[in-house]
Amino acid sequence: MSGSAIARVAIFAAGALVGGGVATFASNRQQPAPVVPRSVVSPTPAPIVKLDESGKTRVSELSVVPSSPSVSTILKYGNPGPIADPLVRKAYVAAYDRRLRHPAWTAEHLTQASLKSLPGGADEAGDRSKSTFVEDESISTQFRSRLKDYFRSGYDRGHMVPAADAKFSQQAMNETFLLSNIAPQVGDGFNRHYWAYLEEWCRRLTGSFQDVYVFTVPLYLPRQDADGKWRVSHEVIGSPPNVAVPTHFAKVVLTSKPASPSTPELLDISTGAFVLPNAIIPDEAPLESFVMPIEAVERAAGLTFFSDAIKSASSHICKTTKCQVVVRRFDDAQKKAGRKTIAAPK
Ligand SMILES: *[C@@H]1O[C@H](CO)[C@@H](O)[C@H](O)[C@H]1NC(C)=O
Repeated sequence: MSGSAIARVAIFAAGALVGGGVATFASNRQQPAPVVPRSVVSPTPAPIVKLDESGKTRVSELSVVPSSPSVSTILKYGNPGPIADPLVRKAYVAAYDRRLRHPAWTAEHLTQASLKSLPGGADEAGDRSKSTFVEDESISTQFRSRLKDYFRSGYDRGHMVPAADAKFSQQAMNETFLLSNIAPQVGDGFNRHYWAYLEEWCRRLTGSFQDVYVFTVPLYLPRQDADGKWRVSHEVIGSPPNVAVPTHFAKVVLTSKPASPSTPELLDISTGAFVLPNAIIPDEAPLESFVMPIEAVERAAGLTFFSDAIKSASSHICKTTKCQVVVRRFDDAQKKAGRKTIAAPK
């Protein structure tokens, strides 16, 4: 991209972006069990595969098997999945990973208006001291993450969608405390510090951009061992082990604003991805040191955030705003009073 050129894409392209995310989401939706006509269920001619004298399969016998077996025939007794339980909340949309028992991803749309707490009114403003962590009963019991998994695990119950992004209503904030929005995070030096201020940086983007889209993604990245081989190693908390502990977390952001007041149909789009280890991060670590190509996060997570058109039409967020996290340790005392970060049984 030429140095000072500001990438511009028409508003419909931004629609395509949001639509793209929704399409990914919709495709993960639980599929109804394949409908199989009774005539297929019984009687079914068993596929007969015979070997000839030379030990080779005889094609004539193989032809008993339908030449292109339909999915519903093979999956007659059910489709194993995977199913990413779609979670649609007031302040976010997410997909739950049944195997890892934390979100596969969460998505939010932040604006100055959405971040405002609206005291009084019909919808009372969210206050985190009035929210408690709760198990998500919309997740089937065998795949649910539990309060006892986190208890004495040594990890914080880390919000993927931060509570502070849902101050507009108590219900919205409560929904961020569902364990389906939670993943195990290192507390001191990460969840309570660097990561918390990265979340704040995301909120502050609404001061410079009209619309801010934030995806939060737990990751499992391979590490090279002494023998030169790459392995993924991670803890699983709970007894019996239940909830996987991500090695990293990514924030993928997209911001948009009108290119100019005279061309409100044109948007300036910026994107960026940050990948942080689930570990103590020094307060002074530059945010830019965690920048990763969005494609790298997509490859690692097996997800697609934005279309190629959006990616190539966008500027890097660190070129259009200051990528800087300021960790304020003097806030700690106040937080201890108000913010529940220590895992405790219900
Ligand atoms: C929020 O959660 C708290 C604690 O679980 C509960 O007492 C309260 O009724 C909830 N509020 C709303 C609006 O859902």
